[in-house]
Amino acid sequence: MAGETDLDTLLESMHPMVRDGDYVYALWPHGKPLEGDIEAAVREAEGLTVVLRREEADKLGLSYDFVAAWITLQIHSALEAVGLTAAVSAALTHVGISCNVLAGFHHDHLLVPAADSGRALEILNLLGRGIVLRSEQPQDRPDILELTARAFSVSPVTGQPVKGEPVEVKLLRELFDSAEYIPGFSIVAEIGGDIVGHVISTRAWAGDDPLLGLGPIGVAPTLQRRGIGSALMKETAARAAAAGERGIALLGSPAYYARFGYVPAASLGVLPPEAAWGSHFQLLALPGWRDGVKGTFRYAAPFERL
Ligand SMILES: CC(C)(COP(=O)(O)OP(=O)(O)OC[C@H]1O[C@@H](n2cnc3c(N)ncnc32)[C@H](O)[C@@H]1OP(=O)(O)O)[C@@H](O)C(=O)NCCC(=O)NCCS
Repeated sequence: MAGETDLDTLLESMHPMVRDGDYVYALWPHGKPLEGDIEAAVREAEGLTVVLRREEADKLGLSYDFVAAWITLQIHSALEAVGLTAAVSAALTHVGISCNVLAGFHHDHLLVPAADSGRALEILNLLGRGIVLRSEQPQDRPDILELTARAFSVSPVTGQPVKGEPVEVKLLRELFDSAEYIPGFSIVAEIGGDIVGHVISTRAWAGDDPLLGLGPIGVAPTLQRRGIGSALMKETAARAAAAGERGIALLGSPAYYARFGYVPAASLGVLPPEAAWGSHFQLLALPGWRDGVKGTFRYAAPFERL
């Protein structure tokens, strides 16, 4: 049976699936006949590499470092198909997930760090819908500002059309140039090379302790309610947790942000800069929260000038 070669079809129909269990790469002892349940093997001048389940490696006494989740792309891709591996590994690279690719006769298989399997699956499912997340580059800024102007052309506070340039555009312009800008925390969502969503988090504080302040976040009006905002929120939290940040604070609708684990910040001892913000001032405690931080929250300086 001939495999699929069209890249768009391959991406749309790849249906990534995580196999049960953990997998490892190990070097097979030189001269020992092959035995056990080996999932894949590669012979090199230096020796034979085997890929197998972690328990099997333990049973055989093989040593290993990298513990991986095994993701199978269920589409039957032709071995001569161009671009699937590149698109998949680029999408994962953009979010800092390493990816080792094995091609079988029928399918492609990705071995990603076991701890990243859920996130890798999400990124692959987004890619299947044509959406790629990546860090903002300075040359993206005009497009991001233009997107933000469109996203905030109707005020999220009053629901009324905004006259002139929305205040979020000026804020973002200043945040890009501020001392509180943190590379890697300005993230875009792209479809077919067009920027369709953006979120930024900048350095902020509760008392003297560093936190992140999230916002603005915007999605192209015609593409809202398709999960792009959620993907940007989850990617921010994953990056912040990986960077050892303690928590992320924001001002917004509890009806939207509670789904990502945000709670009223005051319930965790972080008070809003303006008391009137009440429960709209929310905080996500990350694994780095530990004993937590307390005090009144202070956003990056450009927020003070709003
Ligand atoms: C808020 C925003 C970033 C969400 O992005 P998105 O891609 O539309 O969001 P998702 O598709 O991931 O999630 C959509 C869900 O969030 C809900 N939602 C979106 N904005 C909401 C809000 N302000 N209050 C409550 N729920 C909201 C939608 O009703 C939808 O819920 P449902 O899935 O139960 O139907 C986007 O709507 C946007 O750019 N809005 C204009 C700018 C803005 O308001 N930014 C946030 C300021 S705090």
